Amino acid sequence: MAKKTSLIEEFLKKGNKVGSITPSSRFLVKKMLEPVVFSEDMCIAEFGTGTGNITRGLLAQMPPKSLLLAFEINPELYEQLGRELQDDRLRLINDSAEQLEKYLSENNREKADYIISSLPLAILDKETEESILDTVVRALSPGGAFIQFQYSPASLKKLKDRFSDIKTDFTPYNIPPALVYTCRNK
Ligand SMILES: C[S@@+](CC[C@H](N)C(=O)[O-])C[C@H]1O[C@@H](n2cnc3c(N)ncnc32)[C@H](O)[C@@H]1O
Repeated sequence: MAKKTSLIEEFLKKGNKVGSITPSSRFLVKKMLEPVVFSEDMCIAEFGTGTGNITRGLLAQMPPKSLLLAFEINPELYEQLGRELQDDRLRLINDSAEQLEKYLSENNREKADYIISSLPLAILDKETEESILDTVVRALSPGGAFIQFQYSPASLKKLKDRFSDIKTDFTPYNIPPALVYTCRNK
């Protein structure tokens, strides 16, 4: 039987790129998913699935014909989630979130209705951060939303450069407490 890994183990090995030592709390998952209106045939992209708390929250609510493109760059976390979650709606992808447009096209989709991100933007290298945010702007449906949690407001300016409609929310019930940004694409 494969050994189970955790965010803290992967953080100790990979540091910066994992960005957290604890999975999202159920309170944070609820806040992240509150703005999502679930509809038949929708496409959602998730960035940074980790151990899958948000992925599971999404799959619990997504309708049967919808599609979830879920990105996780860490091979151990990707493989573990692949063993734990088998679902026709889920395409688990061991690649960087920057590649979203390639996978949309492979799955015959033009845009994502929602992009739900736990990426540690503030500690990624600046080029990767900019490239991911530019990908989000290009790949998000008109009327869709980019929902991102962060532990500090360090990346807010970069979001404001790209979105004019940003709602900031906060939950203290997470370790550490988290800000949730909902960026609407008008
Ligand atoms: C804060 S953790 C994930 C938390 C998880 N979603 C949860 O709800 O518990 C962030 C994750 O993003 C992944 N990650 C970092 N850079 C990435 C990238 N460029 N593309 C995809 N995943 C990435 C890390 O490996 C890590 O698993």
